[in-house]
Amino acid sequence: MSKMLVLNGPNLNLLGRREPGVYGTTTLQELENNLSANAPSGVTLEFFQSNHEGQMIDRIHRVMDEPIDGIVINPGAWTHTSVAIRDALSAVVVPFVEVHISNVHAREAFRHHSYLSDIALAVIAGCGMQGYTFALETLDQRLKG
Ligand code: DQA
Repeated sequence: MSKMLVLNGPNLNLLGRREPGVYGTTTLQELENNLSANAPSGVTLEFFQSNHEGQMIDRIHRVMDEPIDGIVINPGAWTHTSVAIRDALSAVVVPFVEVHISNVHAREAFRHHSYLSDIALAVIAGCGMQGYTFALETLDQRLKG
């Protein structure tokens, strides 16, 4: 058995209503339900979304004292701005996969740089909601060695 934490950053609570041409029409709740229903066997999931950077950092810190084996994170705009989220993920020493629903490399130049990618186990961009599933599978494979 393993437990993974699925984190979503700012504005991702608006999935389904926010720029549907870019992010699709699936809501965050639908995404989380779908991931729970189709998680790799033996894997349980916990979800957290915040629009507040400090709250996200505090949630990541708690992983240090919890039996969390892997993190999937869509950091949203913090990808491109936040050394603090990077430092929090470095501190907890749990493997994480960075997910972007859209292909950030095909968008504005400011989305091309990530403060997280070089310390991530993997980076998935442009696969839509399926990216989260790919991320969980990647972590599961890694944990099984
Ligand atoms: C995003 C891409 C980011 O550039 C953007 O700020 C988001 C969502 C994505 O999932 O494609 O909020 O991380």
